[in-house]
Amino acid sequence: MTTLIINIKELLQVRQTNVTIVSGKDMKILPTLKNAYVLIEHDTIVEYGSMEDAGSYDADEVIDASGKIVLPAWCDSHTHLVFSGDRSQEFVDRINGLSYEEIAHRGGGILNSAERLQKTSEDELFEASMQRLETVIRMGTGAVEIKSGYGLTTEAELKMLRVAKRIKRESLAKIKATFLGAHAIPKEFKDNPEGYVDLIINEMIPKVSEEDLAEFVDVFCEKGYFSLKDTERILKAASEKHLIPKLHVNQFNAFGGVALGVKYKALSVDHLEQLSDEDIHALKGSDTMPVALPSCSYFLGIPYTPARKIIDAGLPLALATDYNPGSTPSGNMNFVVSTACIKMKMTPEEAINAATINGAYAMGISNQYGSICRGKKANLIITKPIESYNYLPYAFADNHIDTVILHGVVIK
Ligand code: NIG
Ligand code: FE
Repeated sequence: MTTLIINIKELLQVRQTNVTIVSGKDMKILPTLKNAYVLIEHDTIVEYGSMEDAGSYDADEVIDASGKIVLPAWCDSHTHLVFSGDRSQEFVDRINGLSYEEIAHRGGGILNSAERLQKTSEDELFEASMQRLETVIRMGTGAVEIKSGYGLTTEAELKMLRVAKRIKRESLAKIKATFLGAHAIPKEFKDNPEGYVDLIINEMIPKVSEEDLAEFVDVFCEKGYFSLKDTERILKAASEKHLIPKLHVNQFNAFGGVALGVKYKALSVDHLEQLSDEDIHALKGSDTMPVALPSCSYFLGIPYTPARKIIDAGLPLALATDYNPGSTPSGNMNFVVSTACIKMKMTPEEAINAATINGAYAMGISNQYGSICRGKKANLIITKPIESYNYLPYAFADNHIDTVILHGVVIK
């Protein structure tokens, strides 16, 4: 099957060579080609170029993209997309004055979601999660990282990861799974948090590895959740099973989680709403991607990750949704890109780089996803007719997407 997209007004994120990460000043550069075409064979981009140089291809399907912009599908490197039910009551409680932390203290928050998930069957969980995924695909997302962490028992954590595995098999999107058993201390371990860390290390990690259910490991390294010591114990055990860290750090407090992540060669450190100079220093020269989650800041009313400080220090930055029922009930990457521009003062070029190529890096797939490059997977967004790519973040909260193509298949 070959698909030819012609008359593209502007083709974004075109890379001659297989660039896998962009950092610092380079993030301001978004290479584009005007009046372009793209040729897709099966699931792969095999050719692209200027319309003047387009040969006569005998394609099975021709898409005329006159007036439209084409770019790589979003790569969402941080989600908790497998969950059960919603937490809209807590949302109202917060409007009425309670904080996210206070709600968690009362046994709400993550524990609330865990209780519901434990009672939900694997099939129900799969159906609900698939539906969510289909919704975000229509919003232009082509690759998604999915975390466990609403199970908090061995059985329920494995159930979540089995659902993620099934999604991986059945969806057209690229899926990566992360084991986040260390998301919260379950009620039963309230007075014995170390006992829960033991359970993660001695039972959960070996089983996750045995069933080959995840490639990454995550820990919510935060006051009231998992300490630096807990985090380090978990990362040590995980590294023996070749699980690569992607950490929740510095959401409410900065106390060294970033440096610990770098020490254990984390692929990414995510949240970073609180970021110290020591954290910036730790990231310099490392291969760890900082990831900002602006929809979470928006929803909880907490500070935005200081993108300018990170990028101006010469570091890379990725953007992701954090899609989850508690702090970010939205998987919309378009909103993330807009909010990054509006609230974090990222330029459209920086935000698009952060949500495509750097997002792909933060989930270990930037060899094959995140840019328009010969040989990369054909995960593409075709916009509606728009004036320029600046219009995407500018006209926020509106849908500018006409067509999504995943692995060469036009999503209906
Ligand atoms: O990334 N911060 C920890 N975990 C999620 C929120 C979890 C929840 O509230 O359910 C996050 O924001
Ligand atoms: Fe998260």
